[in-house]
Amino acid sequence: MERRRRQCWQLLAVAIGCLSFACGGRELKVNLLESSPAFNHTLATIVVEYASAVYVSDMTELFTWTCKRCHGKTEGFEVIELIVDVTHCLQAFVGFAEDLNAIVIAFRGTHGNSIQNWIDDLYWEQLDLNYPDMPDAMVHHGFYLAYHNTTMRPGILNAVEKAKDIYGNTSIMVTGHSMGGAMAAFCGLDLAVNGESQDVQVITFGQPRIGNAVFASLYSQLMPNTFRVTNGHDIVPHLPPYYQYFPQKTYRHFPKEVWLYDVHLGSLVYTMEKVCDDSGEDPSCSRSVSGNSIADHLVYYGVDLMGGGDLVGSCKIVTDPRLMDYGGPDADGNIILSRSPVASVLRSSVGSTKSDNIA
Ligand SMILES: *[C@@H]1O[C@H](CO)[C@@H](O)[C@H](O)[C@H]1NC(C)=O
Ligand SMILES: *[C@@H]1O[C@H](CO)[C@@H](O)[C@H](O)[C@H]1NC(C)=O
Ligand SMILES: *[C@@H]1O[C@H](CO)[C@@H](O)[C@H](O)[C@H]1NC(C)=O
Repeated sequence: MERRRRQCWQLLAVAIGCLSFACGGRELKVNLLESSPAFNHTLATIVVEYASAVYVSDMTELFTWTCKRCHGKTEGFEVIELIVDVTHCLQAFVGFAEDLNAIVIAFRGTHGNSIQNWIDDLYWEQLDLNYPDMPDAMVHHGFYLAYHNTTMRPGILNAVEKAKDIYGNTSIMVTGHSMGGAMAAFCGLDLAVNGESQDVQVITFGQPRIGNAVFASLYSQLMPNTFRVTNGHDIVPHLPPYYQYFPQKTYRHFPKEVWLYDVHLGSLVYTMEKVCDDSGEDPSCSRSVSGNSIADHLVYYGVDLMGGGDLVGSCKIVTDPRLMDYGGPDADGNIILSRSPVASVLRSSVGSTKSDNIA
């Protein structure tokens, strides 16, 4: 009896040994991945078009992918879900880009206030929320809740599930500009931590800081394939402020920054692209210049974001009544439109007569 029990324990010990070996193997794979992602310039210049398109307020144009940005580099994109949170003035879409072989998720930046007011407020944002299940990882509650506590998260998770059913196990590209970049980072992390998604990439443009050093470090371990593009003197990536001398109390960016900056040679201007170090706060990238420009916040890779600033100040949406066949407002007035991408007849049937229906 005594002997048999010991044998059992030995067996269990062997089993545990195998388990931890398997875990060790998986960790090794994560580490390998961590060093591998390289910045892809071509990909960034495509993804910025999606980050720009999501600012379009005409839901028909977005849903049928017929907007001005919905051609050229993003031609053929299949929108699966368009999510408009009217209560919080947020907008996002999920779709499939065949050329990238990826599900693309894009978040709109802030729309409700003047951009100047929004930036003024960013100076004072507190690190006031603990990221769940990550001890000591603090984040800004506003950015966190905009993704986690609105129509955004359930809408996006649902659409990702749907996309996977149709397209299989493809990679996911999450993007956004300005506050949309902050939401993209929280969404990417959520998909990596809570979803079964294997290959999640994030590329943001002019993104503010969203958490402290502990958060930045955990984020970069879990989401190694993340690039934060910053442009010239764009003020937003400098906010909320980073105080080098208060490492425990201050915001800190996660890596990797990619800084775009102009070099003047005689009468010519060249835009350079620098892939920065792993610290998240590379002193030779955007931190080497003063963050004092709103204009630099509005154009990335020559692409207007926020409609070049014209759209700020309104939360208005334009809808075609027939779109309501694809989903309608919920009790709070928020709208999720959902379609099956194989039914691409929709593109021509709604798109062709949309002008008759928009008031
Ligand atoms: C960069 O991205 C583009 C667009 O997705 C792709 O065609 C190209 O192969 C990528 N380059 C590398 C080196 O991965
Ligand atoms: C999330 O939203 C709900 C409803 O809008 C609200 O009651 C709740 O307090 C919010 N949670 C947090 C942490 O703010
Ligand atoms: C999805 O892809 C990943 C990596 O490419 C793989 O590890 C995983 O097993 C795949 N899942 C399914 C359900 O095919």
